[in-house]
Amino acid sequence: MAFTRAQRQDATIQIRWLIRRDMPDVLSIERGSFEYAWTEEDFLCCLRQRNCIGMVAERDGHIVGFMIYELHKSRLRLLNFAIDPQARRQGIGAQMMLRLADKLSQQRRREIILEVRETNLAAQLFFRAVGFVALGVLRDRYDDTTEDAYLMRYVLADAEIASPFTSGNRIDEYGFSDAA
Ligand SMILES: CC(C)(COP(=O)(O)OP(=O)(O)OC[C@H]1O[C@@H](n2cnc3c(N)ncnc32)[C@H](O)[C@@H]1OP(=O)(O)O)[C@@H](O)C(=O)NCCC(=O)NCCS
Repeated sequence: MAFTRAQRQDATIQIRWLIRRDMPDVLSIERGSFEYAWTEEDFLCCLRQRNCIGMVAERDGHIVGFMIYELHKSRLRLLNFAIDPQARRQGIGAQMMLRLADKLSQQRRREIILEVRETNLAAQLFFRAVGFVALGVLRDRYDDTTEDAYLMRYVLADAEIASPFTSGNRIDEYGFSDAA
C-alpha cells in the first residue's frame, strides 16, 4: 500500500471479523454512504457464500467502517466497503486496506480488484492514494443507473505489474462480463 504502517496504524482502531450483531451499524453506514444501498438480505446472502468475508473497523466500541470481500485463487475481490461519514479522512479506510493487503501475502494471493462507479470520484481518489490503478472501464455496468464502472487493481509490490489500460480483453480475462 502507498501508506507506511507508521503513518497509518492507529491503535484506537480494531479491525475484526464482522459478526451478526454488527449488522445494524453496518447497514446504517451503508445507507449513509450509497444511493443504491445493499439491503440486509444482500449482505446476508453474500456472507453466506463460503468464499465471502466481512470485516469491520471498531473505535471506542463503535463500528466506524466495514468491508466485504471474496476470496479467489490468486486474488481478493472487494465487493463493498464504506467508512462512517463522520469518521472519514482519518485514515481508517487506508488502515482497512492495509489489513486487506496484509492478507494477500499471508494467503499467497497477489492482487486486490474492485469496481468503482464512474461518478464516485472520492472513492477513485482514495483507491489511487492507497496504490490501486485503473485497469479499464466496464460499460453500462449497473442495473440501477446507466453509469459505467472503473475496474481497479492493487498488486503486491513484488508481483509482476501489468500496465494499466491494456487491451479490453484484460477485463474478460477476469471473468467480469458475467459477474454479479
Ligand atoms: C472511499 C472511503 C472508503 C475512504 O475512506 P476514508 O477512511 O475516508 O479514507 P482515508 O482517510 O483513509 O483516506 C486516505 C487517502 O485517500 C484519499 N482520499 C480519501 N477520501 C478522499 C476524498 N473524498 N477526496 C479526495 N481524496 C480522498 C486522500 O489521499 C486520503 O489521504 P489524506 O486524508 O491524508 O489526504 C470513504 O470515503 C467512503 O466510505 N466513501 C463512501 C463509500 C464508497 O464510496 N466506498 C467505495 C465503493 S467502491
